[in-house]
Amino acid sequence: MAFSSVRIVLLCSLALNSHISSASPRTFGIDYENDCFLKDGEPFRYISGSIHYSRVPRVYWKDRLLKMYMAGLNAIQTYIPWNYHEPVPNQYNFSGDRDLGHFLQVAQDIGLLVILRPGPYICGEWDMGGLPAWLLNKKDIVLRTSDADYLAAVDKWMGKLLPMIKPFLYQNGGPIISVQVENEYGSYFACDYNYLRHLALLFRSQLGQAVVLFTTDGAGAGYLRCGALQGLYATVDFGPGGNVSASFAAQRSAEPHGPLVNSEFYTGWLDHWGEHHSVVSSAIVAKSLNEMLVMGANVNMYMFIGGTNFGYWNGANSPYAPQPTSYDYDAPLSEAGDLTDKYFAIRDVVKMYNKIPEGPTPPSTPKYAYGEVKMTRLQTVSEAADLLSFSGPVKSTFPLSFSEMNQYFGFVLYRTKLPVDCNTPTPLSSPLNGVHDRAYISVNGVACGVLERDKSITMNITGKAGSRVDILVENMGRVNYGKDINDFKGLVSNLTLGPAVLRDWVVYSLAIDEAVSKGILLGRLSQEAPPPPTHRTTPTFYAGSFSIPSGIPDLPQDTYIQFPDWGKGQVWINGFNLGRYWPGRGPQVTLYVPVHILSTAAPNNVTVLELESAPCTQGACTVAFTQTPILNATVTHTPTHRRRLFDKDDLS
Ligand SMILES: *[C@@H]1O[C@H](CO)[C@@H](O)[C@H](O)[C@H]1NC(C)=O
Ligand SMILES: *[C@@H]1O[C@H](CO)[C@@H](O)[C@H](O)[C@H]1NC(C)=O
Ligand SMILES: *[C@@H]1O[C@H](CO)[C@@H](O)[C@H](O)[C@H]1NC(C)=O
Ligand SMILES: *[C@@H]1O[C@H](CO)[C@@H](O)[C@H](O)[C@H]1NC(C)=O
Ligand SMILES: *[C@@H]1O[C@H](CO)[C@@H](O)[C@H](O)[C@H]1NC(C)=O
Ligand SMILES: *[C@@H]1O[C@H](CO)[C@@H](O)[C@H](O)[C@H]1NC(C)=O
Repeated sequence: MAFSSVRIVLLCSLALNSHISSASPRTFGIDYENDCFLKDGEPFRYISGSIHYSRVPRVYWKDRLLKMYMAGLNAIQTYIPWNYHEPVPNQYNFSGDRDLGHFLQVAQDIGLLVILRPGPYICGEWDMGGLPAWLLNKKDIVLRTSDADYLAAVDKWMGKLLPMIKPFLYQNGGPIISVQVENEYGSYFACDYNYLRHLALLFRSQLGQAVVLFTTDGAGAGYLRCGALQGLYATVDFGPGGNVSASFAAQRSAEPHGPLVNSEFYTGWLDHWGEHHSVVSSAIVAKSLNEMLVMGANVNMYMFIGGTNFGYWNGANSPYAPQPTSYDYDAPLSEAGDLTDKYFAIRDVVKMYNKIPEGPTPPSTPKYAYGEVKMTRLQTVSEAADLLSFSGPVKSTFPLSFSEMNQYFGFVLYRTKLPVDCNTPTPLSSPLNGVHDRAYISVNGVACGVLERDKSITMNITGKAGSRVDILVENMGRVNYGKDINDFKGLVSNLTLGPAVLRDWVVYSLAIDEAVSKGILLGRLSQEAPPPPTHRTTPTFYAGSFSIPSGIPDLPQDTYIQFPDWGKGQVWINGFNLGRYWPGRGPQVTLYVPVHILSTAAPNNVTVLELESAPCTQGACTVAFTQTPILNATVTHTPTHRRRLFDKDDLS
């Protein structure tokens, strides 16, 4: 549909001139006549950026938000990940790094408005798109539809969350100007209008009539068909480099009048392990940003700072391709919050439309290279299994999934015995591709290979009848987009040895994070002889420590940890789970270490769970702390699926 950008700008500024100031209450709404937002009765346009508080340590919220404000932004946008706040049913966490209220308050104190995206589904390259994995306790639940059990859980969660949000609405004195309902629902197969209607009613009843509720969908009629709903303002999302007028024309097909809004303008793009690091040029971002702003459009830049998928929080796409720990996103503020060339290129565009605030921009934070840390080999996971399994192992004829074990993240150990002699190489297989997501296999304590979802479903083993088979299964992150979000973890179908189904398992739920924070593993050395050099190793813990040097001013500082010659694993510092490393698969090589987890009062404890091959067979081995991030290493692995920038059809 045709429309004139000039007209929008003119009408909005005319309205501005005719405005008579009064002590009116705080209002925020949509002016359908003049195609813009109205804030306190005056035409308003936001230039916003995305920041996910769940990906930035609380100590850095103020620094990152201030940098956004100093780029001339007048708003920020954030997701609320349900699974981050309700890790187990009815146990809510809104404290520390999860203190949403504090985040909203800091944004408001700085002078930023907030566009809130509370889900319940958020996509966002976050585990299961923010939906709690415990929803899968009902195995045939149909997520993101009017499935009764799903809706009951959503109602309960929103009944808790939305009343907390309400005082932060703009009308109530807070920073929140608009609230998104669901997320890109038009990209989901279900197209259940009753579900969207249910959410719209729920949000209205909890938040009141005044708040602007909106939806976001891809900029195409096909997406808007199931994503838009009467009563929710329809917005679109699209990246740079395309035809901005054509993209907004898609929004106009759903919303003939009202403000133009790009709710996710991609400043960069996501990564997957084993695929090249995504890079988007500043020039193309600046050009498209300017094209939108000159039309009078409202823009949210996704991401303005990506941050980090600490712990196990990354998501995955299908065919199964998990995202790495870093969520740098090639955004204008780096993963560590540093100012990049893109930041200044964007600010140069923004300042043609918004006044850049007076005063200094916070500088990039300094990084310190603490150097190499010697690591000592501790017990293998197999040796430590009883120690790590707080609830004790469970016997089962056939394998149990993570959720059947009441565990949602991390690692589960499956143990059985070879039922027959395998004197010649015998295939150990997952015929239904049921290793979710990566299995590390050993026979009598000797590592013999890896099975990986969608990539490698069979391998050969040998051994005498009765030999102990240990299979450690790693949950590498749940699918966060598309039809495969019911992503069960563990051995979700039977394994076969030759023609026979393997039976009689002992399954260990592993509380590794708790064990690491309590220091339970420290000092427990392996009784097993290390494997010969260059041979793969069974999953094994390693520990080391380092002190912050004294006499150097301004320490401690942020740093990056890297794993020269290590294979794949998980790393904790002082019990804080930094995330996954996998330098051989790439493209991420270094992990961001924020300063607040480091201590000057005591040596800092590094714990590593190496799954495949540690370089420690000949005694000492090291991890290293450096000043420079590497997120774009050359990738040796061949992806199964070709993906293009900004193309969500590629992700399904
Ligand atoms: C709540 O989350 C914070 C931040 O991640 C964490 O430090 C704290 O231990 C959590 N509280 C509980 C009770 O799990
Ligand atoms: C962009 O799209 C608009 C509307 O669909 C169209 O009129 C215009 O020709 C397109 N511009 C280019 C450069 O393709
Ligand atoms: C397993 O061993 C057989 C016989 O030696 C061989 O043909 C086959 O390629 C091996 N399979 C794998 C996955 O290594
Ligand atoms: C394994 O196979 C048995 C027997 O065919 C079947 O009853 C069971 O459901 C299967 N288990 C899984 C996890 O697929
Ligand atoms: C590291 O572990 C040692 C030994 O358990 C402990 O004394 C020390 O306090 C720990 N360091 C930190 C920063 O927690
Ligand atoms: C990775 O990024 C750095 C910094 O932008 C650049 O200098 C380097 O050439 C890049 N390396 C690869 C392999 O693309």
